[in-house]
Amino acid sequence: AAVEKGNYRHYMQKEIFEQPTVVAQTLRSYIRQSDNSVALPQIDFDLSAIKRITIVACGTSYYAGMVAKYWIEQFARVPVDIDVASEFRYRNPVLENGGLALFISQSGETADTLAALRHCKQAGQTIAVVVNVPTSSMAREADLLLPTHAGPEIGVASTKAFTCQLAVLAALAARLAVTKGQMDRTEEQDVVRHLLEAPAALNAALDHDDDIAAIAPLIAPARDVLYLGRGPDYPLAMEGALKLKEISYIHAEGYASGEMKHGPIALIDEAVPVIVLAPSGPLFEKTVSNMEEVRARGGQIVLISDREGLAEAGDGCLATIEMPKVHPLIAPLVYAVPVQLLAYHTACVKGTDVDQPRNLAKSVTVE
Ligand code: G6P
Repeated sequence: AAVEKGNYRHYMQKEIFEQPTVVAQTLRSYIRQSDNSVALPQIDFDLSAIKRITIVACGTSYYAGMVAKYWIEQFARVPVDIDVASEFRYRNPVLENGGLALFISQSGETADTLAALRHCKQAGQTIAVVVNVPTSSMAREADLLLPTHAGPEIGVASTKAFTCQLAVLAALAARLAVTKGQMDRTEEQDVVRHLLEAPAALNAALDHDDDIAAIAPLIAPARDVLYLGRGPDYPLAMEGALKLKEISYIHAEGYASGEMKHGPIALIDEAVPVIVLAPSGPLFEKTVSNMEEVRARGGQIVLISDREGLAEAGDGCLATIEMPKVHPLIAPLVYAVPVQLLAYHTACVKGTDVDQPRNLAKSVTVE
């Protein structure tokens, strides 16, 4: 049956608001409720023998992969390489025995990602896929199928598939860490507990929809927008910039907060809004210094942080968006919401076609 928009103006908006439900749905199939452990589908190879992971994806799925690299290396201490699919094969990557190649795709049909999968298969890698369409080519060709349960995604710009991918990837990282002996039962239960907090935290983030809509008119006139983030939230800065480009046609760049001084700082003036994604925590002070560098050049900051972070650094910002205070593990899921909504509302202000942006396709089946 055709998917309906219901009370929403756009599919993208509906899909953003579905995230608490579909992330919960996805988590349910990766968590054993009885003992709060991570449960992956049946695996026919030895996960504990995996020596290296190669992640390949495109677009928003690639940014989910970047977050996963932080998690897998931090939890499981397994080295991770990551590439965009269109670059991967042509650099003649080194694929040693004992490697796991992990492909992330909403559609399971993106031509470059599928070609990379086949390349890795031929090179003897074990193939794992995180896909939203369980009947897709990638799903069929995988040794390990890790489905996301986001339901059909209609909006061309990916939203709910992304947060579901993150949920699956966090579960995978924890499971790998356990099999590698890097994480004990109690730590695994902690990870699971934090993941189970995600749906409520996503709801709390969605509660700020009106505040974000009120900021959109400040972003809409911009020609360039800069997004900054650190650690696992750095890929979220890139995802925020991608969402804005895709649907509002405003040029945007995502940068690591600390790298700004090596280039993008030259762009900063009153006309370039800088969106800072910075949950409070050990590295918050460093981001505050980066914000001061922006402010000293007349830059206008939109700070996305929790109450603690906003209390410390919210003064003097063009606008602030409050997020719930969450465990760092789930921050990338939660901070996806404000960047999605900011792009969405900015596109609405500009009157662009949110669900069918110009020149873009939902699934890119040509290389
Ligand atoms: C297209 C879509 C994006 C998506 C990318 C990767 O560019 O417009 O939203 O992130 O393809 O698609 P996949 O289905 O492989 O995740």
